[in-house]
Amino acid sequence: MSENYVFYQGELVKEDDVKISVRSKAFNYGLGVFEGIRAYWDDKNEQLYAFKLKDHYERLKQSAKTVNLDFDLSVEDLCKGTVELLKKNNCRQTTYLRPIVYNDSQDIGPTLDNADVKVVIYTQPLNKYAGKSELSVGVTSWRRLSDNQLPPRTKATAAYLNSALAALETKRAGFDEAIFLTDANHVCEGSGENIFLFKKGKLVTPSTSDNILEGITRELVIKLAQEELGLEVVERSVSRTELYAADEVFFSGTAMEVTPVVEVDHRTVGTGHEGEVCKKIKELFFGLTLGQNPKYVEDCTPVYDK
Ligand SMILES: Cc1ncc(COP(=O)(O)O)c(C=O)c1O
Repeated sequence: MSENYVFYQGELVKEDDVKISVRSKAFNYGLGVFEGIRAYWDDKNEQLYAFKLKDHYERLKQSAKTVNLDFDLSVEDLCKGTVELLKKNNCRQTTYLRPIVYNDSQDIGPTLDNADVKVVIYTQPLNKYAGKSELSVGVTSWRRLSDNQLPPRTKATAAYLNSALAALETKRAGFDEAIFLTDANHVCEGSGENIFLFKKGKLVTPSTSDNILEGITRELVIKLAQEELGLEVVERSVSRTELYAADEVFFSGTAMEVTPVVEVDHRTVGTGHEGEVCKKIKELFFGLTLGQNPKYVEDCTPVYDK
């Protein structure tokens, strides 16, 4: 029995009261889209900050629209509901939020018309995701789905079988995480994070037309690199061996945050330890998640009334 509440169809209800049928199309065919959001706990000020809520819910609404799972709740409703949920569950540690929009219709057939659209958000404590501060990664033999097959930019639940297969293969091979290539053999992203490389003074990341999820952390990293570090950032197609030759490689993502990659396919990257650029971006990133940086204060929504 869970004492937790979830946001379900615009209301806060007990988690155990929400049931999903074995007949649901969300369960049978993975017909849904989702988000992953963090809320950061500030121990000193006993405050919880939901991070980049608006951006996540704008992406969720766009994903739902793309796959014909439109729903009536606005971005403002979802932001407000999230703050209420975090309060209701008395979340007093860094917390992950998982909003899901899914087709709960129960007739046979993988259809998206006349969908019974449901919206649910649950909370989960989450500190570090990677379990390691420096990662060794391998390029997976599984290819990233393309925009015209199962659009990765929609963060569709079904697409994560692709991620799970890649992670399974690379973990079994002894790596911490997978890197996908596209069908055109361009570097794409990790199983749940975007990738950056630093070489000859430039920060490079795969372009949005290379089947990546357009990461919210990716966008922030680009902004921090340009505006705070004065770096040139290039979004373009990247070849596999560019990763081997890079001075630095690192991941970005809500769960993964900013995490250095020190080995790719058993080749040491740069010095084999976290590089200076990754370190600076990480410091800038963690220096704003608790609302400490006035320029980025709007990214952090305080949960508790003070
Ligand atoms: C496949 C994939 N790529 C990239 C990301 C990073 O995106 P964001 O920074 O918005 O969390 C995620 C996580 O949501 C993901 O699942």
